[in-house]
Amino acid sequence: MSETPQPADLIVFGGTGDLSMRKLLPALYHADRDGRLAPETRVIAMSRGGLDDADFRGKVDAEVRGSVPVDDLDTWQRFLGRLHHVTVDIGGEDPAGWARLAGMLGGYEQRDRVFYLASPPMTFGPFCREAHRAGLVTPASRVVLEKPLGRDLASALRINDEVGAIFEERQIYRIDHYLGKETVQNLLVLRFANAFLEPIWNSLWIDHVQITVAETVGTPGRRGYYDHAGALRDMVQNHLLQLLCLVAMEPPSRNDRESIRDEKVKVLQSLRPVTGGEVDRFTVRGQYTAGESGGVRVPGYLDEPDSTAPTEDSHRVETFAAIRAEVKNWRWAGVPFYLRTGKRMSHRCSEIVVQFKDVPHSIFPGSTPNRLVLRLQPSEGIQLNIMAKEPGAGEVALKPVPLSLSFAETFTGRVPEAYERLLMDVLTGNPTLFMRRDEVEAAWRWIDPILDEWDSQGTRPEPYPAGSAGPATAHELVGRSGRVWHEEGQA
Ligand code: BG6
Repeated sequence: MSETPQPADLIVFGGTGDLSMRKLLPALYHADRDGRLAPETRVIAMSRGGLDDADFRGKVDAEVRGSVPVDDLDTWQRFLGRLHHVTVDIGGEDPAGWARLAGMLGGYEQRDRVFYLASPPMTFGPFCREAHRAGLVTPASRVVLEKPLGRDLASALRINDEVGAIFEERQIYRIDHYLGKETVQNLLVLRFANAFLEPIWNSLWIDHVQITVAETVGTPGRRGYYDHAGALRDMVQNHLLQLLCLVAMEPPSRNDRESIRDEKVKVLQSLRPVTGGEVDRFTVRGQYTAGESGGVRVPGYLDEPDSTAPTEDSHRVETFAAIRAEVKNWRWAGVPFYLRTGKRMSHRCSEIVVQFKDVPHSIFPGSTPNRLVLRLQPSEGIQLNIMAKEPGAGEVALKPVPLSLSFAETFTGRVPEAYERLLMDVLTGNPTLFMRRDEVEAAWRWIDPILDEWDSQGTRPEPYPAGSAGPATAHELVGRSGRVWHEEGQA
């Protein structure tokens, strides 16, 4: 890994799409502004769009400039100058398109070359084959695969085989942008750079763990993707399971690319399978109906504006999922991990809540929070909720109070977006925060039986109004054992 930026060619397949315009290009601009791109580095967007370089730069100027801080026009112009566009139709035979790309890359074989596939998973294999056929895959090439990798284990295996036939595993970067979030990385530091947590980080002291990723956004304009994904594939298989791995993993022997991933995969392999009749007991799926979100009336999933009309798939797809998971090993035996994610929830809130057990014998009335909350968003931070005495004479009155670390207040520098961090890792060749093949496959192996059971039941998800806390059954899922979901603002 080198600290001096090396010249690179970043080829973004799907380069004019939503992900590219909203996340990748702003992240690259920030990196450029901070001097972390070599002067020669180029960003080549590939699409069917028929644009030339000037058209593409104009599009980025119109659509991206407003979302990034452009404090000096020279830097912005320098960034635009790095951008190129090449038209290739990967769906059809398009040797001329590939030849155009080959022409642009010719003579730069020694540079780091990154193919970023911001496209649906079924295009990954064909893309790699075509790029290879066009002679573009050099030893210094890497390929970045966006999630979800496939739609079940079988398709993930196929895609991994297809991509693996062209690229070696060391060249393959499977991205999960949650691993680039500051709090997520901080979780590793919190656990493994402080001695006090480790002795109590186990089933003797921890009652349960909750991992919530609640979004207020719906899915307008995403029906084509979302109908075939759903919350389980879109969020749980990757983001939530990755968070679970970081909470549950054993201390790695080193902070390097393989040690951390080795420990994560062991967690995934230790997940107790949820199959057959257990699926109904341990999982909940919901779909939002019309409601009020942020003071505004919003439509239900089926009535979201879209270019296509809802189908039977739309009726069946879940926009909310909750699961009671268990990690079957010595450290975690008997500790439930509750996972929950949903669109159009009442609050935007992503957090990991570690609930410690009650004191063995309480001399004060009332319950004790004993809770560690790692907040990923909206405001990143770590909170330890403890019990304290309310000042005053007379009866001792207890009050839950937070010991709080707000990243924004403690670290005043700019907090980079997850994609920025991860893109820089790809450019410098550091795969630590990317998913290895066996990790992705182990995650699907656990998810598949739940999907199969949901499919075979042929029933529809439970409705919940937009702007609510999700379906009622999700509360029963934790309530059965006398627990409750941690809610926004709760100490
Ligand atoms: C993406 C999902 O991976 O993550 C989206 O496809 C979701 O459906 C998004 O909205 C959430 O990311 P973040 O960083 O906004 O929490």
